[in-house]
Amino acid sequence: MLLKDRVAIVTGGTKGIGKGISLKFAREGCDVVINARHIEDARKVAAEIKAMGRRSLAIAADVSKSAGVNDMVARTIKEFGKIDILVNNAGGVSGDAKIEDTTDEAWQRVIGVNLTGQFLCCRAVVPHMKKKKHGKIINVASMGAIHPPAPIVHYHSAKGGVLGLTTDLAFELAPYNITVNAILPGPIRTEFFTEMLNKMTAAEGKAFFKMLENKVPMHRMGEPEEIAGVALFLASELSSYVTGQAINAGGGLPLEPQ
Ligand SMILES: NC(=O)c1ccc[n+]([C@@H]2O[C@H](COP(=O)([O-])OP(=O)(O)OC[C@H]3O[C@@H](n4cnc5c(N)ncnc54)[C@H](OP(=O)(O)O)[C@@H]3O)[C@@H](O)[C@H]2O)c1
Repeated sequence: MLLKDRVAIVTGGTKGIGKGISLKFAREGCDVVINARHIEDARKVAAEIKAMGRRSLAIAADVSKSAGVNDMVARTIKEFGKIDILVNNAGGVSGDAKIEDTTDEAWQRVIGVNLTGQFLCCRAVVPHMKKKKHGKIINVASMGAIHPPAPIVHYHSAKGGVLGLTTDLAFELAPYNITVNAILPGPIRTEFFTEMLNKMTAAEGKAFFKMLENKVPMHRMGEPEEIAGVALFLASELSSYVTGQAINAGGGLPLEPQ
């Protein structure tokens, strides 16, 4: 097992990519704190993890608010005694956003969850990881940060900021044996996509998938499990000499499809 007796916090661990990462970590021997805003969803995933024989804790917190984040980190240390791994996964956006159509409120909200949230979680765990002289931080960005599929100015700016946060912290924390890396997923089949599809007609949905597949060199969407595999590498000692890196996990993106 690659994460035996490690303790991880996975933000947004109740659905899609975050759930895939949480379950994969648990299968590798890790105890996992499941965070999201909706506590019932978090309790369900925590129950699945406990059924595998690992410890788990469901914590409701909005990652864009420092009080909830600090409380989550303090509760994790109280319950499990340490934090080895932080996966900053909570995030997302709904719909396109051209610059002229983006309100102050939308900008603050999307930057809040996708960038400020990652900063707040890092700031809360770093003093603990520094004391332990060990830590693994994994920030989920997006291929959209370097290869936008459509204009979504707040989201892509936030995910670009995540890449800056990653390289800055990797540099600052390397002397403490804390690695900080980012994953850039391409289109992944998650609840986020399902919800978007539910708003479309069947024909629109089919056309949308066709368009997506044609843009990706591997001609298919990814699955949460495929991002979880990259996260496992970055969370385990297999990546002990890897820090400050951004790993593209987008079926070949940003290469052009044939
Ligand atoms: N799916 C893709 O194709 C794709 C592509 C590139 C990057 N990504 C990135 O991958 C990450 C996960 O995406 P996903 O598609 O798996 O999303 P998802 O299925 O919509 O799940 C999002 C998760 O984040 C939680 N969350 C949302 N806002 C939160 C907040 N303010 N505080 C705490 N938790 C919050 C949600 O739970 P609650 O609603 O209960 O809070 C849920 O657990 C995101 O950072 C996203 O930007 C996704």
